[in-house]
Amino acid sequence: MTAAGLLSLTILYLCCLARRVEALNATATSWSTWGPYRPNLYFGVRPQVPDTLLMGLMWASGDSRSKMLSSLRDTCEQDDGMQGYGWTYYDTRLGGSQTIHDTQLQIDLDTGFIKSEDGKSWAVRITGTPKAGATNVKTSLIVHAAVEMDEFSLPKSLGCENQSLRGGGVEALCRGEIAELGHFEFQVVGDARNKALHDTAVNSVLKVSEDEIWKAKSVFTSQAKAVGGSQGQSVAVEDKPGAGNMHFIQTTFEGPFTLTLSYRTVEVAFLDPTAAESGLDSLQSAFPARADKVFPRAAPFEQDKYARFSQAIISNLLGGLGFFHGNTLVDDSQAPAYEETELNFWEDAATAMANATITQTVPLTLLSHTPSRPFFPRGFLWDEGFHLLPVLEWDLDLAISVLQSWFNLIDTDGWIGREQILGPEARSRVPPAFQVQYTHYANPPTLLLLLPPLLAKLTGASRYTGHPSTHLSTPASATALLRDLYPRVARHYAWFRRTQAGNFTSAYPRPAGAADGHGFRWRGRTPQHTLTSGLDDYPRANPPHPGELHLDALAWVGAAADALRQVAAFLGEEGDEVLYAGHVEAAKKGLEVVHWDGERYCDATVEGGQFARVCHEGYLSLFPLLLGLMDAEHPNLGKVLDLVGDEARLWSPFGLRSLSAQDENYGEGEDYWRGAVWVNLNVLAVRRLRELGLEPGKSSREPTAVQKRATALAAELRERVVNTVFASWEKTGFFWEQYKDKTGEGSHSRAFTGWTACVVLLLGLQFDKTTGERGDDATRSPQSSGPPSLTISIGLVVVVVAVVLLRRPLWVTVGKLVKLWDWRKGQASGRYEQLEVIDLDEGGHDRYD
Ligand SMILES: *[C@@H]1O[C@H](CO)[C@@H](O)[C@H](O)[C@H]1NC(C)=O
Ligand SMILES: *[C@@H]1O[C@H](CO)[C@@H](O)[C@H](O)[C@H]1NC(C)=O
Ligand SMILES: *[C@@H]1O[C@H](CO)[C@@H](O)[C@H](O)[C@H]1NC(C)=O
Ligand SMILES: *[C@@H]1O[C@H](CO)[C@@H](O)[C@H](O)[C@H]1NC(C)=O
Repeated sequence: MTAAGLLSLTILYLCCLARRVEALNATATSWSTWGPYRPNLYFGVRPQVPDTLLMGLMWASGDSRSKMLSSLRDTCEQDDGMQGYGWTYYDTRLGGSQTIHDTQLQIDLDTGFIKSEDGKSWAVRITGTPKAGATNVKTSLIVHAAVEMDEFSLPKSLGCENQSLRGGGVEALCRGEIAELGHFEFQVVGDARNKALHDTAVNSVLKVSEDEIWKAKSVFTSQAKAVGGSQGQSVAVEDKPGAGNMHFIQTTFEGPFTLTLSYRTVEVAFLDPTAAESGLDSLQSAFPARADKVFPRAAPFEQDKYARFSQAIISNLLGGLGFFHGNTLVDDSQAPAYEETELNFWEDAATAMANATITQTVPLTLLSHTPSRPFFPRGFLWDEGFHLLPVLEWDLDLAISVLQSWFNLIDTDGWIGREQILGPEARSRVPPAFQVQYTHYANPPTLLLLLPPLLAKLTGASRYTGHPSTHLSTPASATALLRDLYPRVARHYAWFRRTQAGNFTSAYPRPAGAADGHGFRWRGRTPQHTLTSGLDDYPRANPPHPGELHLDALAWVGAAADALRQVAAFLGEEGDEVLYAGHVEAAKKGLEVVHWDGERYCDATVEGGQFARVCHEGYLSLFPLLLGLMDAEHPNLGKVLDLVGDEARLWSPFGLRSLSAQDENYGEGEDYWRGAVWVNLNVLAVRRLRELGLEPGKSSREPTAVQKRATALAAELRERVVNTVFASWEKTGFFWEQYKDKTGEGSHSRAFTGWTACVVLLLGLQFDKTTGERGDDATRSPQSSGPPSLTISIGLVVVVVAVVLLRRPLWVTVGKLVKLWDWRKGQASGRYEQLEVIDLDEGGHDRYD
């Protein structure tokens, strides 16, 4: 410890004393404050408060110092002998339990996390169980905690004590103060049955720099290596408790063990091991009933195995929630080449990028789910829209917090970076060439997909059985929420239209009737990729051309405009409603005049000075259908359904292929979006086909022939997609990024619990031929398709009037229903097996190829 270090510590301490009174209690905390919001770690916990505490758990072999150091587990990695890990049950509001199968170290670890509703205390119970037959298993556990100290923040302090003599099982106690968290303590408590191999060692490090603070493994390793001699031989790191901004608490056990780490702010009591255990037990026993309530299962998925499947899906989707904070790298040079107006524009753009000055933004904050903890542990814009579809059902307020967090990233122009790589910790997982975000790049505006289902819940048009929501508590709070979101959503949409506009000047030939607003173009193309579209290697015009018009870009604009139209109508913004309705109509017109070639929807380009359509049948061709831009009476619907249902083209035994088996590019090249079955778009397909079947006819009450076909396809596709994801999960223990259309096998990244989790939305869809729609239809938006006819409008007025008149009884009833959902007495089916096994393997970086 240097003199300067001591001095700054003293000053820090004095500052803290001076502020003791004002910062005594934590600022507003809630259930959301603490959680395992560091999904890139096997177990890492932090509050949703930037620059505060970062905590986590490492473990290693306890055989010797060198073995301990060479086997330390910290971040999710692919080469450390893990047979799998994942949440068996997990609820963001309450906590849950994760099992980690460490075959190399012969131990199964369980991290059971539980927190109080007020956000002032939490505990994690860590249990270790040696693998059957394994003897003399020695396991070293290291709890780590660090205070993030940036130069401008308020005083902070943290100190740890060795408490092993104090009795009561408490091994170590740490105390600290951080303005936003108040005075807090955390302790590590052992269990009388543990067979400890050494006294608990507390190693406090005085000042770890900001860019090292998240590297628990490397800091710990250098602490351990700093001591030589006989001390250097023991497994335990030097016992050196005290003040500092990073602390390691190490214990080593032989055989099974239990250790509890509990945190509290000083005004409340610790969740002691007994409280933690009983809390976790009741959580576990209530979880199955809760999952079934929110995601009911309809035929043929009633069996218990599908219940476990559904629990594993939702738990791991929720368990991938991360809180990120830090700066990001942006190329905001707005180089002329980024206009992409010249032939060979991608070469000019690449040259300009190589030469551009990269800006480091101010630190940004993001709360987001992650596509995959080992491979993509950060926020992806277009993935998040899909993640939030199930989350919205489970916990509306959580979904809203995430949505707001994403929209808080919007810049004054309306841009949101498509991949959020915030801070050095997130950057450490991304190849440098892919770290920079470009302000002319867009991504499918999937977050807008959330608006229609959200609106349906706010107006009571669709069922909500998730956690009680403050946003649903009164009509005023619902309106306030949309008023808050609306301007930013509208800004993002306007930015998309402006920056991804198609060129309708006289520079390029266009079909008769095509005009501005009828076509859009993804920027950021190269001959092989359109990464910005999300469909990476899906075949498009080659070579790229500045006169191109992309079908999916237009469909996204149309769907986004329709979502905004619905919100504008709800908020009584009549001018906007008319404006957006006009955009929807323009998009629909563009689909027909620009993109329809008489048989299918296609991209468009300019070839030899002529307008030309580029047709590769696949997901792209379905976007007008998937995004709700075709109603049941659409003249092209029959042909689109032909494509959907054709085994030679998109219809595979395992779901819809991304590219027709008849396309020349099918299975070629990287083969990423060239045939494989992707769950997110299959889920959209099932839901949309089903809606078409249910659409009230304009002329007759009977569904038309084409509607019956849509329903039949939806029903069959639902079963195929669920069976595919389920079979692969049952066999391999993994959820996968995509599935092979020939065999149904999972492929690319394992442990892909991001949008593959949308499959849970299909479990409860019912297709009852005799009575039509029945039961759960939580996912259907009330007015998502077609122009609002007079009858629908009148119907809406009636509903709105009724809601206004009856709002008290209505809200009271909703409240009662929500209370009925008895969390503790839910039908428990006892312990269920840990089934979600996540492994780490090759692949997973295709998004960067
Ligand atoms: C801190 O919280 C306690 C208990 O809620 C309360 O009694 C006390 O007045 C608070 N102190 C300050 C300074 O706000
Ligand atoms: C910590 O506690 C252990 C067990 O009582 C003891 O052996 C060790 O000397 C203590 N270390 C310090 C620095 O107090
Ligand atoms: C690279 O950047 C410099 C300074 O910004 C500029 O003068 C130069 O023309 C650029 N070169 C290319 C090839 O864009
Ligand atoms: C359209 O393309 C022409 C020819 O490349 C270009 O000069 C013009 O700036 C483009 N206009 C728009 C609005 O992109």
